[in-house]
Amino acid sequence: HIPVIAVDGPSGVGKGTLCVLLAKHLKWHLLDSGAIYRVLALSAIKQHVALENELELAILAKKLLLRFISDETGVQVMLDDENVSAQLRLQEIGDAASKIASLPKVREALLQRQRAFRTSPGLVADGRDMGTVVFPQATVKIFLDASPQARAERRMKQLQKKKICAIYDEILHEIITRDERDRNRAIAPLRSATDAFLIDSTDLSIDEVFKQALNIINS
Ligand code: CDP
Repeated sequence: HIPVIAVDGPSGVGKGTLCVLLAKHLKWHLLDSGAIYRVLALSAIKQHVALENELELAILAKKLLLRFISDETGVQVMLDDENVSAQLRLQEIGDAASKIASLPKVREALLQRQRAFRTSPGLVADGRDMGTVVFPQATVKIFLDASPQARAERRMKQLQKKKICAIYDEILHEIITRDERDRNRAIAPLRSATDAFLIDSTDLSIDEVFKQALNIINS
């Protein structure tokens, strides 16, 4: 039985960073499920498929030629052999991903693709519904949370590092809007699995979150 660590939580909470650290430490595979929704959104925009067209989007989801490649700079995401990693981080793509993620047929079409990442020796899965829907039998479930303000501040710092101009109030508004959509959608709403361990990272450094997660995994 191949072990899975499911890490769920809202936007900008540091799940991505935590999951990369855990996967490296354990030498396990990594699933960035948000990247799959983002790639689908990007592909839909490129192919002029409307973000409300559930059937067409589900067909596109099944056909998606998507690969993750690890190199020294991190994980590169390839769509039809084009490196789309930078495009995926655009706010417009995050917003489009969150819209299509509320469509049941789209989520259904992406289920097997996500489950296929569970390969030996183990998987660290990052998302919104890893512990509730995709891997309900996960070995360990962690729900990572933080206040919207703390998340907005972290995103500001990330953007400033990349020399991208951003306005705090806009970032905060975007985070709150995305949270509401993710938490209130009818299918796979963002919530903690009943058997998940909660880590509130509002006042914790990356290192402290990593240590807490390791304690949970090793307990
Ligand atoms: O990086 P950030 O947390 O902002 O977003 P992400 O993890 O890349 O995911 C982008 C969007 O995809 C989220 O706002 C969710 O609506 C959706 N998503 C989802 O519904 N289920 C997942 N397992 C992962 C992402």
